Amino acid sequence: MNELLPKARELLERGLIEDAMKVLAELKSLANTPMGTDFLRAKCFLALGKKYEGTARECLKEELRLNPKNEEAELLYNELFPSVDLEAYCESPKFQAIASKLSFHTMMPMRHLLNLFENANAVLRENIPGNFVECGVAAGGSSALLGALIAESDSPNRRCYSFDTFSGMPAPGSEDRADGQDAQSSCWGKGTCSAPMESLLEACRKVGSESFVKPIPGLFEETLGAHVDEIAQIAFIHIDCDWYESTLCVLENLFPLLSPGARVILDDYDYWDGVRKAYEEFSIEKGLNYPLVKLTPNTALIVKT
Ligand SMILES: C[S@@+](CC[C@H](N)C(=O)[O-])C[C@H]1O[C@@H](n2cnc3c(N)ncnc32)[C@H](O)[C@@H]1O
Repeated sequence: MNELLPKARELLERGLIEDAMKVLAELKSLANTPMGTDFLRAKCFLALGKKYEGTARECLKEELRLNPKNEEAELLYNELFPSVDLEAYCESPKFQAIASKLSFHTMMPMRHLLNLFENANAVLRENIPGNFVECGVAAGGSSALLGALIAESDSPNRRCYSFDTFSGMPAPGSEDRADGQDAQSSCWGKGTCSAPMESLLEACRKVGSESFVKPIPGLFEETLGAHVDEIAQIAFIHIDCDWYESTLCVLENLFPLLSPGARVILDDYDYWDGVRKAYEEFSIEKGLNYPLVKLTPNTALIVKT
């Protein structure tokens, strides 16, 4: 493992970006990656051009969450990504107040976070019965936001159940491709998106939602089925777990719990091939015909009828 980081740096310096990314993907798939791994991933994405700036930003955030003392990463992050103009996204002071505290804790673009805010608020307004669930929490910003909405609502008995490994993505399968590239070699494979549970707890403390969010660590395949009875009914699910097998596992375990009128946001629907494939196969198998609306080119909203 010690040799992989200098090897990736050298490849990057020689302009061999794809080779450097392969080495970094291998490094990320090992436990306890050394300081600087996500910094170099960010540099690779930056070298690929403007289209990948957002991805580079997420790698820098991951580096800083895992290694807060990495000054090199902090400097680059502050230089490239000065603070977000939240007013440009939404006039709601409530959204601005929450999002400004959570931007470091989420990989979601602000537009996606706003979709979450608006649709979770809608089920609260419509009094759809049930809990909230997030599958794919990473550093916790999206779950903390869902908890904050419950905290301020008229139904504070609800909880947001937040499922994640809290140690990064499991290994992708053969269905997990984007833009014709397999997930592992795209530098978003096993071990990426990692953040400890403490990052979720810190995010919750920032917006006062710690009593409303229940973290459930572990693989969905081991945790979801065991919590179905406790969750009982669902008003809102955010599915943000990227892989085919993970998405299918969520659909199979949690869709039977949806209340009529419940909303489901399926992130990366048109980005990761496996996410759309899982939903399409599941809908056909179960004979579902729920309306599906695209909130952004990559985000689908499904409403249980
Ligand atoms: C894109 S990140 C989630 C981003 C998050 N919603 C945010 O606001 O930044 C995807 C997460 O899904 C989790 N994940 C994917 N498949 C999983 C599985 N089978 N079991 C547990 N967690 C899984 C990963 O650990 C990772 O943290």
